[in-house]
Amino acid sequence: MGVSFDSEKKQFHLTTCHTSYIMEVLLGKHLVHHYWGQRVKIASAFELPLVEQSSFSPNPEPEHKEISFDTIPREFPDYGRSDYESPAIEVQLADGTHVIAPEYQSHRIQPGSVQPKGLPFIEAETGDSSETLVITLADSFSGLTIELYYTVLEKQDVITRKVVLTNQGEKPITIKRVMSATVDFFRDDHFEIINLYGAWAMERQVCRIPLGRHGHIIDSKRGSSSHEQNPFLALVRPETDEFRGEVYSMNLIYSGSFQAEASVNAHGKTRLQIGLNPIDFSWYLQPDEKFTSPEAVLVYSSRGLNGMSQIYHQLYRTRLYKGYWSKRERPILINNWEATYFDFDQDKIEQLIEESSRLGIELFVLDDGWFGKRNSDKSGLGDWWVNREKLPKGLKALSEAAHSRGMMFGLWFEPEMVSPDSDLYRSHPEWCLSVPGRYRSEGRNQLILDMGREEVQDYLYQRMTSIISENNINYIKWDMNRNMTEVGSPILSSERQKESSHRYILGLYRLLEKLISHFPEVLFESCSGGGGRFDPGMLYYMPQTWTSDNTDSVERLKIQWGTSYVYPPISMGAHVSACPNHQMGRTTSLKTRANVAMAGNMGYELDILTLSDREKKEILQQLSLYKKIRKTVQSGKFIRLRSPYGSASSAWMFLAEDQSEILLFFYLTLATPYNNFDKIRLTGLEEDSLYQDQSGQQYYGDYLMYSGLNLPELKGDFDSQLIIMNRIG
Ligand code: DGJ
Repeated sequence: MGVSFDSEKKQFHLTTCHTSYIMEVLLGKHLVHHYWGQRVKIASAFELPLVEQSSFSPNPEPEHKEISFDTIPREFPDYGRSDYESPAIEVQLADGTHVIAPEYQSHRIQPGSVQPKGLPFIEAETGDSSETLVITLADSFSGLTIELYYTVLEKQDVITRKVVLTNQGEKPITIKRVMSATVDFFRDDHFEIINLYGAWAMERQVCRIPLGRHGHIIDSKRGSSSHEQNPFLALVRPETDEFRGEVYSMNLIYSGSFQAEASVNAHGKTRLQIGLNPIDFSWYLQPDEKFTSPEAVLVYSSRGLNGMSQIYHQLYRTRLYKGYWSKRERPILINNWEATYFDFDQDKIEQLIEESSRLGIELFVLDDGWFGKRNSDKSGLGDWWVNREKLPKGLKALSEAAHSRGMMFGLWFEPEMVSPDSDLYRSHPEWCLSVPGRYRSEGRNQLILDMGREEVQDYLYQRMTSIISENNINYIKWDMNRNMTEVGSPILSSERQKESSHRYILGLYRLLEKLISHFPEVLFESCSGGGGRFDPGMLYYMPQTWTSDNTDSVERLKIQWGTSYVYPPISMGAHVSACPNHQMGRTTSLKTRANVAMAGNMGYELDILTLSDREKKEILQQLSLYKKIRKTVQSGKFIRLRSPYGSASSAWMFLAEDQSEILLFFYLTLATPYNNFDKIRLTGLEEDSLYQDQSGQQYYGDYLMYSGLNLPELKGDFDSQLIIMNRIG
């Protein structure tokens, strides 16, 4: 278990409870990859069947014509010595050349995990039986040393990887590309790929296509992990489904531009990799300096896509964000954005607070518009002082109004941005990301602060700490509403301009670290025009993310389904909003809106002052129901049963950690003539457990799993049903 090294065969075996990962040092210097997949015995014979290739696969070893990097599986591929696929590393040396020959030097094995400097990571705990293997490769000509870190979390069934580069030479080295993880599958190209793509209001849609005989790049060049692609890529067997079959996946713990790639070469060698996006990056490494890559999480499952997701969910719920809220049930919030947009005053907010408390809501969140001269999205960002014209009694009065009614009070910020029409911009126009002599493109009428500058971090830290402390704020919604353009930083030298984007992310993480340490009990929720930065980097600091600005329950089914491939339901902000829906114009019942929101971190976002008594009564009931089932939703096992993509109905279930409760959510998106002939099989239950539903009907676990539950008859489009079953024996 953990890490072992066979000094005779020069083989490394990394073992988790269900997986093995095997490498070898060939000829005492080349680190090759043997295997990643279902666990095999350590004694198993792993050997590369090396055969001589044609002259189009050149040989970097004069005495070994059977070795070409074109054909053998490599652990950390460089470019320029017979490997023609995308490399894990690319550099430019001081003489302008690009070829390096990293060779095995040494290795060490240490307990636990290691934090990549200034970056979020998976922190192992003592009971995880975790070990870290560090393999050192070196290019003797340039003095570049490469340390490959593999942390094996045996119990969690996870391996994390990262890379530390050190310049031990005498001249600077420019790093042009560094992938956090690369895996070669030797003579194995029987795959399809899955990625999560999207756009604003339709994030993390599932895309699955054959791998074919070419490369697929999934990336973001936007300076954020993005709405368009999530930093996740999986290889699956064509026969893999939600419940069965192999999945090999990577997820990058990073919130900026990234690249993931899957490709197959002519010899049937498949390469999967993930790391920083090279288009947006280079790093000028002076002698004795180090560079650390973000950490990648590698998850293998032989139990299909649900098997993969459950590994991620468990890991991210317990080993990513580790603060005050990690083991606590999250409060049900109400946010005023879709109720008022910018059009509110002290009275309106006070009335909303009062009404929310009557309904049993636990946290009131005041969104955009409380600060500076901010009555539209055209001005004010950066001026983090309360707008006394709008809120003459200040934030304190609102926060007290909530607290006096037993509710928490939360506030919206968009710290990384500045409006050109703001006092901050007028006094510090140089604080923006920009390129001298170039127009500063605006997005949503705003520019981006250069988070790599310490004075920017300090300003934001100062403003935010004083607003939070003076007004007793319990929750922060941290928004970010545009992507990067004209990326550059006037404080960096010319060789370092391409560091701006990564330095921005490092600066952002530094600020977040300081703030969460200062306010350990404040609950932070990340947002980027909805889910434009739904990634494990953000979840390390802020345990929940606003999943999408699209609050339409039908669209949300697809968004939450795709998001759940990697991220647990507790991390997904999911609100009941008004109808017709503001994004889609669709009308759905309050029941269905709640049944979709209840499958995540539930909240409300509508003008409750305009609701009828009947609607208020229904909301009261929803809130009390969610409070009862919240533990199972937020810390139970989530299982996808029927996909909303391309089908008229869909379903998912939650199973309490101790199996005492089942929540089956069934959604009928489009009515069909034979709705009432439907049944669904549940999974993950103990065969002999006896469950009883709300109507008193009893079922054994084996019946629910093998015969299946007859679904209730639903009528009409957009209907839904939550079936709750409790174990009685
Ligand atoms: C974008 C967010 O996603 C919304 O929820 C809201 O906070 C607006 N920004 C406010 O400007």
